Amino acid sequence: MPNDPQPTQPDQTRAPFFDSLVSTRQHRTPVSFHMPGHKFNAALLPELTDFFGAGVFTGDLNEAVPSIDYLHAPTGALAEAQQLAAAAMGADHTFFLINGSTVGNQAMLLAAVRDGQKVIIPRAAHRSVYAGLILSGATPIYIAPRVHPQVHFPLAVELSAVRDRLDEHPDVVAIHVTSPNYYGYLSDVSGLVELAHTRNIPLLVDEAHGAHLCFHPDLPHSAVSHGADAVVQSPHKTLGALTQAAWLHLNGERVSFTLLQYLLAILQSSSPNVTFTGSLDSARRQMALHGKQLLDRTLELAQRARTAIRAIPGLWCYGDDLIGAYGIAAYDPTKLVIRVTDTGLTGKEFAAELWARGNITVEFADLWQVICSVTIADTPDKIERLIAALRNIAQDQRGGDPTARVELATPPLPQLILNPRQATFRSARRVRLIEACGEVCAEQVIPYPPGIPLLMPGEVISAEMIDYVQYLLREQIKIVGPEDLQLSTVRVIV
Ligand SMILES: Cc1ncc(COP(=O)(O)O)c(C=O)c1O
Repeated sequence: MPNDPQPTQPDQTRAPFFDSLVSTRQHRTPVSFHMPGHKFNAALLPELTDFFGAGVFTGDLNEAVPSIDYLHAPTGALAEAQQLAAAAMGADHTFFLINGSTVGNQAMLLAAVRDGQKVIIPRAAHRSVYAGLILSGATPIYIAPRVHPQVHFPLAVELSAVRDRLDEHPDVVAIHVTSPNYYGYLSDVSGLVELAHTRNIPLLVDEAHGAHLCFHPDLPHSAVSHGADAVVQSPHKTLGALTQAAWLHLNGERVSFTLLQYLLAILQSSSPNVTFTGSLDSARRQMALHGKQLLDRTLELAQRARTAIRAIPGLWCYGDDLIGAYGIAAYDPTKLVIRVTDTGLTGKEFAAELWARGNITVEFADLWQVICSVTIADTPDKIERLIAALRNIAQDQRGGDPTARVELATPPLPQLILNPRQATFRSARRVRLIEACGEVCAEQVIPYPPGIPLLMPGEVISAEMIDYVQYLLREQIKIVGPEDLQLSTVRVIV
């Protein structure tokens, strides 16, 4: 009996969209009578050419040039580039994004949840998720953050917590989770997929920090391969794509392809910058062809760094030692979560020293840790510089625990009276914070770190919350969101 014909594998050596840019510039430089106004003339703003190179003008092509495909109605090279990306990462479909995972979170929430419908969201979510709530009118069913006792941040969401919320709210229409988070810890996404699909609702995953996960067998599996319905990734964070370039993967039909495509065209610029889309096509080709080798080296460098850092007195670098508790199912070893407080410095102070002494900039720093991301772009030399600088700063003797005054008990999640969208568009007035007890907040109050909203529009301000905010202010913790950043006043719903 003849064998069934094998589906032909897409040719990952191709980068059709990026190649269309190259070939247009090489062979058919447009004699342009259309936008962009610079008309590919690198002499127009020489200071930009000096800084960015001539390509910033000559490569700034758009769909007015017949050989260039259009992101919002792709029929040629961009359509093929997205298909190649989907095939490389195992998704049914991939959308290229020009406004980061930010727009991916917004679009997937808009596509999956209608005005007034409920969505489960762990409170420790990026602000784009909150923007998605405001845009969609969804009612969040939050999962209270369960702070990890060593890292002092909620690192993952527990399956049982999601199940409990689903049981309490059987009318929930979607679940949105962030995994991995900034610190590289992953939730049990496979369990979450199963849970969501048992109830026939979609699992939406913010995998902004996990674009590399699809390309190495020793890394935790991406939510895409677990069958999550929509997964957004920022290849600009962990691969070679340019800042703002991201992609959104779709599996199955619980989230509508047509609606998502329509929403992305609404939310994003009608003039997509080909620097972003071209970089996505090129980064996908690189990873599809060489991802395993590149990440072999990355993993080796990260492991070398982790071992060296653990040997520096005063420092500790977390790793898979935290797996198995607090919902943590897996760990991305390319993240170095370095606890520094035994050196007498906070994470933020330590990060400032790294910059001052070694021009070293880190992914993120909180009170306890600095977080460094190792990627395919790193070299042994850079890792050695990091280790040397860490050693140098750690060896200075300083006394005391810099976080001794920090009280960790945050108030419980506030009561939600109006959903974020309803509250955003209601009239508000300003009252003194100390007189705001019982009022419904009209703005966001987000301390950094850790960046988890204390209050969202539509939530009741309790006496406990006022005390806590005042305590944060005394401790000079930065608060973002409110109009009055000193928070002597707060906006409340009229
Ligand atoms: C967890 C998470 N989600 C989404 C985003 C937004 O990603 P982007 O910068 O690609 O818009 C970020 C950005 O830092 C993030 O940390």
